[in-house]
Amino acid sequence: MSARTILIAGNWKMNASQEMASGLIDGIKAGPPPSNVEMLVCPPFPYLGLAVSSASGSNVHVGAQTCHTNVSGAHTGDVSAEMLKDVGCSHVIVGHSERRTDHGETNEQVMAQASAAIGAGLVAVICVGETEAERDAGSTLDVVASQIAGSTPSSATSDNTVIAYEPVWAIGTGRTPTTEEVQDVHAAIRSNIAAKLGQDTADGIRILYGGSMKPSNAQELLALADVDGGLIGGASLKAADFLGIANSAP
Ligand code: PGA
Repeated sequence: MSARTILIAGNWKMNASQEMASGLIDGIKAGPPPSNVEMLVCPPFPYLGLAVSSASGSNVHVGAQTCHTNVSGAHTGDVSAEMLKDVGCSHVIVGHSERRTDHGETNEQVMAQASAAIGAGLVAVICVGETEAERDAGSTLDVVASQIAGSTPSSATSDNTVIAYEPVWAIGTGRTPTTEEVQDVHAAIRSNIAAKLGQDTADGIRILYGGSMKPSNAQELLALADVDGGLIGGASLKAADFLGIANSAP
């Protein structure tokens, strides 16, 4: 088992209400989550302050789902990493495939967002992953390598950055790669990080798996040598399922 602390992160996407956000966090706290696992919830922007209050005094961290690259200014509708830090967030997801698709975010932009997040004192959770067509074409490792090279800033360390490998075709579909395929991609990502940021950073950085992780498959995924946690969408919206995943950590 590695010395890397398992991180179980919930990506709520565009789901929540005030009632649901506080109820879900209360449910997670009541678990309680295992003490050897770090827990993170990432609600939509309007619920971040409420989530921070609900989670206070527990080991549940709160993060956002994206941030702007600038500190402030004329960017209607956007939110800066400094603002997230100011309201009590500790993490921010950047480069999720839904952002890359819905908002055309490029590797270059994702790198700038990660860099802004790190500059603001947040942990950047940088997402990468291939589409089904790319997997069928046998180019998974190349796609992921170029996303890592293009989206990970040189300021990234194992303390301020987490990588999430999320095969696009596995997100919200109930389908997952085999455990062997997951391990192969995670090991390749660790080598990509070593090439870019050095072996120490590669050894310490957490690489999460995302894409249809649930209580029934979490144990085998979290047991893999290079899987250091999960980024969970659907199953993070129910306290029992989210805790079930956390309780599956080795
Ligand atoms: P899922 O989503 O767990 O619902 O597949 C994961 C994600 O997109 O982060």
